Amino acid sequence: MPERQLHLGYMHWLNGTHWGGWRHRDAPTAQAFELEYAARALRIVEDAKFDFFFLGDTLPGDIAREQWITTHNTGRLEPFTLASQLALTSSKIGLVVTAHPTFYEPYILARLTASLDHLSGGRLAWNVVLGASDLAARNFSLPDLGGATRYERADEFIHVVQRLWDSIEDGAYLQDKKTGSYVDETKVHRLAWQGRHFQVAGTLPLARPPQGHVPLLYAGASELSRELTAKWADINFTGPATAEDSIAFNTDVRQRAERLRGRVDPIFFLPGITPLIGDTRAEAVELYEELNTLLPLDDDIVEGDQDESYWSGPEWARISGSRFSLPKGVRSVRSLSERVGADLRPLGIDGIVKPDSAEQFNAYGRGLLRTLAERTDRTVDNGGVRVRDVLGASIAGNFPLVIGTAAHVADTLIDWFDRGAAEGFNVSTPFLWEPLERFTAEVVPILQERGVYRTEYTADTFRGHFGLDIPPNSFTATNAKEPSA
Ligand SMILES: Cc1cc2nc3c(=O)[nH]c(=O)nc-3n(C[C@H](O)[C@H](O)[C@H](O)COP(=O)(O)O)c2cc1C
Repeated sequence: MPERQLHLGYMHWLNGTHWGGWRHRDAPTAQAFELEYAARALRIVEDAKFDFFFLGDTLPGDIAREQWITTHNTGRLEPFTLASQLALTSSKIGLVVTAHPTFYEPYILARLTASLDHLSGGRLAWNVVLGASDLAARNFSLPDLGGATRYERADEFIHVVQRLWDSIEDGAYLQDKKTGSYVDETKVHRLAWQGRHFQVAGTLPLARPPQGHVPLLYAGASELSRELTAKWADINFTGPATAEDSIAFNTDVRQRAERLRGRVDPIFFLPGITPLIGDTRAEAVELYEELNTLLPLDDDIVEGDQDESYWSGPEWARISGSRFSLPKGVRSVRSLSERVGADLRPLGIDGIVKPDSAEQFNAYGRGLLRTLAERTDRTVDNGGVRVRDVLGASIAGNFPLVIGTAAHVADTLIDWFDRGAAEGFNVSTPFLWEPLERFTAEVVPILQERGVYRTEYTADTFRGHFGLDIPPNSFTATNAKEPSA
């Protein structure tokens, strides 16, 4: 068996990650507030020996608007509470909780994560996020998210959390009935942190977590995100669009890590992907196109639902300049035309995009045509590109889609893995349940047969699954480097 093993996480989005997925005839009406719903998904992926079960989280936001984008954000249990229950219904798989430093105090976060790491037997990881909406900030008496300052705050926050985890050394709890000494005071430390954003006296009142430091995940590709990943993260799951982009990204972050950490700690790159699996490629493409028919589009599909002034206004300027897909309200031929740089309105939604129109497409539009060809084999040259297909390509796929047979999906994952573009994948499915069951029943066995994926768990902790050492305690380690915060 090859030594280097691929890692798999499952990104649990209640209705999957295709924005029309929840409307598929086989998709359940998600029971967001019942334990059994998440527990069922957890069982499926723990049976398939996944490294971790991932609970993303964004603090809302505008729920009415989110319903057109991702229903995942419209009703969801608090991740620490849910993870503590999931720890009881599983025994090996890692559990990832998401928390945004802007909305916590380091002391609270350190206590929550340390407690859950104990209760789960060392299976916890923390996904640090800095994204989402300014609206969330307004639930926390904050005027806004804090711009670049939130990265600076996060940097100090993570450092303080890690120091707090170290508060009580292993072996400190003596419980010596004879001497009456309950704890060894020499092993209990006060942090006495006086920083720019935080003042924390310490001590965190519990034994160091079983993993020492709970592993950290992060996603994000900007300059500040790269620095944050390089300094702190064990796993990054950003998910660049191509293997080449991924190799360039990973190399860049690893070079930064060498500078910031003084050594190259392992950082695992697990891009997010959404596989769409069929018995044949044609069947998988059919599923993709069916899901795109379920995307909620504008009422006036050609002209869009906005008045004329909107198209020169600030909101459209923001959306058209962003790499994110089109939200409801601008899912029309009009908005697509604005974005690709060619007026497609005369063609209508089902018109065929001919070479003379395609030639006018800007770089973004040409990128969409390439994406469409990869996903469906529809090209301008073969006369298969309808306006609807281009619109679908500009909305669907918030994580890269891998469309084809189970063998094709497995080949793609192994190809990325072999080329060093990924150490594994954070897998999501377009909807539940069948696509998840299919991935675990059909793709995972191929990965196992090819010797790149475990058939049994060989460890009981999150760190164990990744072969990550327990870091030394910063209060006692003689050569532990004190990272600048
Ligand atoms: C794949 C992926 C998943 C993310 N999941 C979340 C999330 O669950 N909650 C959240 O607040 N932000 C989430 N983010 C946002 C990141 O935490 C981060 O703020 C963002 O990527 C920073 O973007 P930047 O590259 O511009 O720095 C996610 C980002 C990516 C790329």
